[in-house]
Amino acid sequence: MKKLFVGINFKRGGFRGFAAQSGKGQNLKIGGVKDIIAVASGKGGVGKSTTAVNLAVSLANKWQLKVGLLDADVYGPSIPMMMKLHGKPEVSADKKMIPIENYGVRCMSMGSLVAEGDALVWRGPMVMKALEQMTRGVDWGTLDVLVVDMPPGTGDAQISISQRLQLSGAVIVSTPQDVALMDARRGVKMFSQVNVPILGIVENMSYFKCPSCDEAHYIFGKGGAQKTADEMGMRFLGELPLETGIRSGSDEGVPVVISNPESCVSRAYGDIAQKIVSTLELLNQPHSRPEINL
Ligand SMILES: Nc1ncnc2c1ncn2[C@@H]1O[C@H](COP(=O)(O)OP(=O)(O)O)[C@@H](O)[C@H]1O
Ligand SMILES: [Mg+2]
Repeated sequence: MKKLFVGINFKRGGFRGFAAQSGKGQNLKIGGVKDIIAVASGKGGVGKSTTAVNLAVSLANKWQLKVGLLDADVYGPSIPMMMKLHGKPEVSADKKMIPIENYGVRCMSMGSLVAEGDALVWRGPMVMKALEQMTRGVDWGTLDVLVVDMPPGTGDAQISISQRLQLSGAVIVSTPQDVALMDARRGVKMFSQVNVPILGIVENMSYFKCPSCDEAHYIFGKGGAQKTADEMGMRFLGELPLETGIRSGSDEGVPVVISNPESCVSRAYGDIAQKIVSTLELLNQPHSRPEINL
């Protein structure tokens, strides 16, 4: 076993095992899509969707990749608002839905398909059926990466999605609080159980930079995600501050990486996106996969 510069332990011979175990026949693998990555956390409200949106837009605009964004949070879809998507997807001649594109990213969300609140009463099998339609029933075209905004939690739904989508890897988002980090650990364990490599951990709402004194205040504690990443042998991808521009970008449907591409936070998203790409490249080398210390 050798430790590479990305901070992940790679073991030879494991990647074939991952493919073999991931449930052939019922998977939702999408032709033309090179890598599918999940943006996840054990906990809601930590900034998964915000992170997924800014990373997807950054991958498309800064790194010039062909990018899709799938909102797998069927019960609480936020991608239509955050990506300013209007209307319903059109249907192609071969009866596939055409993703709604904005900021160079092809998006698909339950929020674009049913009226608000309609999906809330759905049981598990209906959710999986909906996800099937939102993956294989969509004309994604060729994509370098499909970013999946995962629903919060580590239950059956998340496990099914992770297995059936044949994820190339997962990005874990956490705030620096102990309770959020505990849930993040749970998320890491869930992915490792289904043999999905962890691409790294992003710390969101790391600090607040006071506009009057210009000092960084570590409201939720300092360095928690970095420490968790180190302990679990994962790559620490970077930190994002608690910032009005990030919040208003999500609320107004203009991600901060679009409205203010040269800002510190946009550069931070760009750097994280680049680290994800470099790790995917390593994973795509034959017979490599990360090993996580649980
Ligand atoms: N770094 C940040 N700074 C300020 N507000 C943020 C930040 N990250 C997320 N938010 C806000 O926090 C709320 C929850 O974020 P969201 O991305 O919807 O979380 P999740 O998808 O994990 O539930 C949203 O209102 C969002 O705008
Ligand atoms: Mg969300």
